[in-house]
Amino acid sequence: MTAIPSVVLNNGVEVPQLGFGVFKIPPYETSAAVAEALALGYRHIDTAAMYGNERGVGDAIRGSGLPRDEIFITTKLRTARYRREDVTAGFEQSLDELGLDFVDLYLVHWPLPTVCNFVDTWRGVEDVYRTGRARAIGVSNFEREHLRRILSETGTIPAVNQIEVHPFLPQDDLRAFNADHGIATEAWSPLGRAGILADPNIAAIAARHSRTAAQVILRWHLQRGDIAIPKSTHGHRMAENLGALDFTLTETEIAEITGLGPARRMGPDPNVFDILS
Ligand code: A2P
Repeated sequence: MTAIPSVVLNNGVEVPQLGFGVFKIPPYETSAAVAEALALGYRHIDTAAMYGNERGVGDAIRGSGLPRDEIFITTKLRTARYRREDVTAGFEQSLDELGLDFVDLYLVHWPLPTVCNFVDTWRGVEDVYRTGRARAIGVSNFEREHLRRILSETGTIPAVNQIEVHPFLPQDDLRAFNADHGIATEAWSPLGRAGILADPNIAAIAARHSRTAAQVILRWHLQRGDIAIPKSTHGHRMAENLGALDFTLTETEIAEITGLGPARRMGPDPNVFDILS
């Protein structure tokens, strides 16, 4: 397998650019899916307290026999723990579920601007960072106005902003804002929850390279410099997605994919998402 390149975060921590996401994988299937992903060569697993499947991720890590420092693990604070004084307990609950004593990246899952004070939450995540039990900290689903607030009101720049990005939502303004502030962009639902795979323009590019649509879309993410975390419960698709590593799209093809439009979200709008769970 071609080596997975790394992205270097603003505190020097390195992240494998192509990871494996476990959103929507049921708890009872998670351990087997992550075990298969690790066996195929994935070394970056993305979970969250709200997915309810951290335990399966931890079981698979231990079962893999791989040294802990060869696997990059991200998890996210559940929204029910957003008061600064609750963040450490939320974090420790994730460590318990994972069976780990540190994570590589810890994220605020959603800004919840209509119901919470995410600046306070971010201060709680800074508290966790100071204990050394998260090698890097960041946010997820933050829009520019949310990032501006934590940049101006607190001391730490997030290492990552994990947001919905795919060819139908290229997010170039937010990605540029992230880049201008040294924040790495990480794409969730990089395949658009598979909704884009039938697009005829992508099919034409894929045919030109003798690749699949999923490989072309993931390649687009990688060449744009983003971290991407596709999810699959099927081993042959996990393997197929690693096939994004060893070919190159032209700049024209990348621009064509970016311009597919019109923009449409597959997931919630971060400005209105307000579920406390
Ligand atoms: P499955 O888990 O049944 O393999 P995203 O990560 O963008 O949210 O997309 C995840 C969805 O895309 C899942 O429904 C997953 O289905 C599907 N998927 C993942 N990889 C591929 C692939 N290479 N080809 C087709 N569908 C894929």
